Amino acid sequence: SWTMLNIVEESVEAVRRQVGGGRAICALSGGVDSAVAAAIVQRAIGDRLTCVFVDHGLLRKGEAEQVERDFVAATGVKLRVVDAADRFLKALDGVTDPEEKRKIIGREFIRVFEDEQRAIMADGPVDFLVQGTLYPDVVESGGGTGTANIKSHHNVGGLPEDLQFTLVEPLRTLFKDEVRRAGEELGLPSAMVWRQPFPGPGLGIRIIGEVTRERLDLLREADAIAREELSRAGLDREIWQCPVVLLADVRSVGVQGDGRTYGHPVVLRPVSSEDAMTADWSRVPYDVLSRISTRITNEVRDVNRVVLDVTSKPPGTIEWE
Ligand code: XMP
Repeated sequence: SWTMLNIVEESVEAVRRQVGGGRAICALSGGVDSAVAAAIVQRAIGDRLTCVFVDHGLLRKGEAEQVERDFVAATGVKLRVVDAADRFLKALDGVTDPEEKRKIIGREFIRVFEDEQRAIMADGPVDFLVQGTLYPDVVESGGGTGTANIKSHHNVGGLPEDLQFTLVEPLRTLFKDEVRRAGEELGLPSAMVWRQPFPGPGLGIRIIGEVTRERLDLLREADAIAREELSRAGLDREIWQCPVVLLADVRSVGVQGDGRTYGHPVVLRPVSSEDAMTADWSRVPYDVLSRISTRITNEVRDVNRVVLDVTSKPPGTIEWE
């Protein structure tokens, strides 16, 4: 729209004024905020921006390609991709405690990013760090409320508060829906623009139990089916998010194909919410649930049961870990 075009152009201008002839770096997560922030800064300073995408191997099906291929094609951004899946898996080896997982993933992320930062600075100084901070984040962190605590606790996959950089925050005055509209205006891939909230530690906290490559592959397939059927039913913009959780340490007996199996359940956790602070379980139509269940148990080897989480928040959190 005309106004959104203006907002984007003004924001590009402001970045140009702030950064001048300097260089900037930006970590892409696969989510909409960092993508839109990077796209705006790219328009302002071109390849004096370097983006870094740390692929921790905990993203969902297709998400790494969306960043590496589609986002780059749409924006022309200069991107360094780090395939760090082995490193993250090794660091997570044997770990089952949720907070421990978060800490490890956050720590490894920062280490990998700092290595990249050094490599980029070998070509010359970098003074600016781009972040996709939104208006509600600005308000919350100024408020000193419990919300800010929850946010900072959740801010894994964020970056160290690095005083060596000046922050560039082109989304500081925008709400989420405006960021999405800006993303459309900038021609970003719609899968990124409309991506539902997804935690920084990714599928790592949606496997209850130890995180292994095999389990990630199972969960990735089950999650892709659930997302596909929810969006085919037109529910993806109505539902706030729908974690699919693999109960990796639970086994149950099933009959699949020719015989009895001893596989794992997955949990569907569709919720509706305004801000993730409170949530209600979504009343997804039975026929949609039925299609998801049939497809997952037919198509995902080792998953023989699909269960639905009907708990609101509170008392249940949205994620299981
Ligand atoms: P909970 O499970 O606390 O989640 O109801 C509230 C919202 O936060 C997301 N979430 C996270 N996001 N790092 C993140 O970046 C995290 O460690 C994390 N844990 C939960 C969750 O997906 C939901 O949108």
